[in-house]
Amino acid sequence: MEKKNIDWENLDFGYRQTDKRFVANYKDGAWDEGTLTEDANIVLNECAGVLQYAQTVFEGLKAYTTVDGKVVIFRPDLNASRMADSARRLEMPVYPEDKFIEAVEKTVKANFAYVPPYGTGATLYIRPYMFGSSPVIGVKPAQEYQFRVLTTPVGPYFKGGVKPLTIRVTDFDRAAPHGTGHIKAGLNYAMSLHAIVTAHEEGYAENMYLDAATRTKVEETGGANFLFVTKDNKIVTPKSDSILPSITRRSLMYVAEHYLGLEVEQREVYLDEVPNFVECGLCGTAAVISPIGKIVDHGREICFASGMDEMGPVLSKLRETLVDIQEGRIEAPEGWIHVI
Ligand code: PLP
Ligand code: COI
Repeated sequence: MEKKNIDWENLDFGYRQTDKRFVANYKDGAWDEGTLTEDANIVLNECAGVLQYAQTVFEGLKAYTTVDGKVVIFRPDLNASRMADSARRLEMPVYPEDKFIEAVEKTVKANFAYVPPYGTGATLYIRPYMFGSSPVIGVKPAQEYQFRVLTTPVGPYFKGGVKPLTIRVTDFDRAAPHGTGHIKAGLNYAMSLHAIVTAHEEGYAENMYLDAATRTKVEETGGANFLFVTKDNKIVTPKSDSILPSITRRSLMYVAEHYLGLEVEQREVYLDEVPNFVECGLCGTAAVISPIGKIVDHGREICFASGMDEMGPVLSKLRETLVDIQEGRIEAPEGWIHVI
């Protein structure tokens, strides 16, 4: 299929409307078959559950072109099961996991012309999401829901690609103990908007959130998990029940151990020990691995040995290996690459 005339190399991480999206409706206790539509707009009752009480969950994954010209998506089964977890936590009906993958496939196929060519650095970002569509005024779950999948071609999440970022430790909390930090609910992102707007105003790319109970342990940023590297090349990443279980992180941990022979440790990480690490990065679908050069904690600067000019050697190798696997230059573990 002929590609759209888009300046792929210079795309930012923004919404650009594509031709088709998938929509399915839940009514009277059952999902309908769903269909592709050209209509990018949604008409909702003024009292819809999503509008009043933020009953909405979402996912994020990418379609891209491999070195041998296939269009693929990365581990969509994990997005399907995480969305099911998110839905259960917000008292929403689960969209069946096999149907989720089918819907993603259909939407990507219908928008093939927007899947960036190999080697451009761009991807087709896929956003499955679901929301309460019927009216509620007392605080309770909606009776009816809509599941949709939209796609948009995107470039890097952080401007400048892989240049090290400066972030700050924020005084705001993202997620409470026993709250919703571990699911992908829109409400978690609404919570983070004031913190990110003020961080940007003050010249920081992102916020480091600490655990809300003790404010001594590293959690994550608004849209990615942390990775650290010790002096002896061990990968350390925070363990917490209130951060999103990143699919990129799970994949990177596997790659670090099985492809690079690195030791990996998932454990509580105290803010106090962060200066002992030599590299720091953020990982996620949108972020891939983005390096952190400096963390500012109320005026105290934590500068990583890897510096502000480029990503450190261990995270660079890790990023390169994951991208090589994703783009088909190295063989992937069984089931990771889903050809469309
Ligand atoms: N943490 C948060 C809060 C996120 O929004 C995301 C993005 O999805 C991640 C981490 C990374 O998760 P994944 O690697 O599954 O994209
Ligand atoms: C993703 O990485 O897919 C996300 O959903 C993060 C979001 C902040 C863009």
